Order: sequence, then structure tokens, then C-alpha cells
Amino acid sequence: MMATRAQQRTDRAEPVKSGEQGRDFEFTSADFTRIRELIHRSAGISLSDHKRDMAYSRLARRLRACGLDSFKQYLDQLETENDPAEWEAFTNALTTNLTAFFREAHHFPILADFVPRRAQPVSVWCSAASTGEEPYSIAMTLIEALGETGARQATVLATDIDTQVLAKAEAGMYQFDQVKHLSPERLKRFFLKGTGAHAGMVKVRPQVRAMVRFEQLNLTDRDYQLRTQFDAIFCRNVMIYFDKPTQAQVLGRFEPLMKSGGLLFAGHSENFTYVTQAFKLRGQTVYELTRDAAAARTPARTAETAGSASASGVTV
Ligand SMILES: C[S@@+](CC[C@H](N)C(=O)[O-])C[C@H]1O[C@@H](n2cnc3c(N)ncnc32)[C@H](O)[C@@H]1O
Repeated sequence: MMATRAQQRTDRAEPVKSGEQGRDFEFTSADFTRIRELIHRSAGISLSDHKRDMAYSRLARRLRACGLDSFKQYLDQLETENDPAEWEAFTNALTTNLTAFFREAHHFPILADFVPRRAQPVSVWCSAASTGEEPYSIAMTLIEALGETGARQATVLATDIDTQVLAKAEAGMYQFDQVKHLSPERLKRFFLKGTGAHAGMVKVRPQVRAMVRFEQLNLTDRDYQLRTQFDAIFCRNVMIYFDKPTQAQVLGRFEPLMKSGGLLFAGHSENFTYVTQAFKLRGQTVYELTRDAAAARTPARTAETAGSASASGVTV
């Protein structure tokens, strides 16, 4: 089937049509309930009532792309055909990807202070990387804290469920507007300025790009297939979309992936104190793996996690 213009467009900032008027497709409460169930099952995302218009406008594009006339038809097809590509498009359509370079800026000096005191090389996992601004900010912080040579050994694993944002992240190209708030030193050290057709754009410098590895990973998967441990995990502004049981499951999976004394960075409105005892708040939405949790790891489990670098799965 030919891709329509709607399918090709990657910009998700299309204004939402409000109310039922002006809509191309009927959109019932039953349709919205079904969408909520499906995205919760596939990505752990709990869509609140006020996301109804957003769900309509983003998925209406999928209906047009698939040449279908109704949401019921689309959802039936999604479930019965079980086509991984359409599930991917469905999930990509419903994620919220807002991010920025050095967002929640107070975390980065904490990371900069932390990493030189760790056994080298350090590894950081950015678990909801979106379009790349966050993992690149982490890599830049590692360079500032460890120097060019020290940071060359360091690794940043950047994962997200959304394949569309990961493709943008891998390209490392941004509008100048997105970096204009950074200091002139950071701009000069970490970005190349676009010229000609790329005027008004910047590109992350190759030494920053080389430190970051992008992979698709669904935080609600049972097994992340990660065979390494991290000094720090960034999990910012994604848990807000998950209900408490899902948050608890994700935090439980983080535990064995954390090196002793490792730090977990959360988003400004995320509070894990009520969800887990394994991480204790160190302040300013930064959590530390508790000694109890580290001690409770069985030797077998630790060896399995830390020692099988050649096993299948992502290894950084
Ligand atoms: C609001 S953005 C936050 C980006 C970045 N962490 C920040 O704080 O700027 C949330 C990201 O979480 C991702 N996400 C949502 N559900 C996910 C899941 N189940 N597994 C992995 N990533 C998910 C979305 O695709 C989106 O890119």
C-alpha cells in the first residue's frame, strides 16, 4: 500500500482537533477504552482521560495510512493481524517525547561529581532517551568530569521504546534553537554548526556521538537482556506514565543492573519512595541503591549479571 502524506510526516506537534466536530472518523468511548487497554498492555502507559484528543489525532493518521474507515476496524486489525510493524507504529504514535538538553539541570553536576570517584570505566544507562538530548547531555557531562581521554572508555547506553525518536537521536542533528540556552563553551566543545542546507542546525560532535549506543528497549519487558551493570541509571519523566505496580516492576528490574552505590536519577515529579525500599532518596530526585538491596543480591545472581558479557543481548 502506498504511504500517504500523513504516514510520512514525522512531526507529532499537529494541533489537536477539539470536540467531535471536524473529525474524519467516529471515535467512541469504547474505542478510547480499547486504545488505553492496548497501550497499557504493550508499553505500560496509562493514558488519562484528557489524552483522548491526542489519541484521536495521532491514531487517525494510522487509519489514513492503512486506508481504514473506523477506529474499530483499525483496532480489530491491530489485534487480529498482530503485525509487529503496526504495533510499533501504534506505540510510537502514543508516546510523549518531550525532552531537552540538560533538562532538570541540577542532576548533571551531581553526575559530574559522582563519576570521577567510581571505578573506571563508568557506564550510564539512559532508559527513556527520547530524541537523544538526555543521553548526549550525559556524555557531555562525562567528558567535562573525566576529560576527553577518561571519557573515551565510558559508555552511555540510551534506550527507548519508540523507534522513531531513536532514529532521530542516532542522527544527532538538532535545531540551533534547542541548544541556544547552553553556554558558549559547551556549544563550541560539543556541537558542529550546520552550513548550507543545514544552516540553523547543529550536530553533536563525533566524540560525543561515539560514547552513546542506542537500542530499542521496552521498560515493561520481563527481561531487558542487559548483561552489564551501571554506575548510574537515568529514568526520568517516563515513570509518570506508568501505574504503581508497573513502576515497582521496573524498579525491581533496575536493582540487579545497578553497581553497588549506584545512582538512579528520576524526573522532577516522580517519587519512588512509596514504591520501593531498595532505593533511598539522596535528595533532589536522586536515589541510591540501599546497602540492604545490594547485600540481598545472591552471589549467583550477581555473577550472572556482571560476568556474562558475551551472552546475547545488549552489552556496553
Ligand atoms: C517525556 S519523554 C522523557 C525523555 C527524557 N527522559 C527526559 O526526561 O527529558 C518519555 C519517553 O519515555 C518513552 N517511553 C514510554 N514508555 C516506555 C517504555 N515502556 N519503555 C521505554 N521507554 C518508554 C517515550 O517513548 C518517551 O521518549
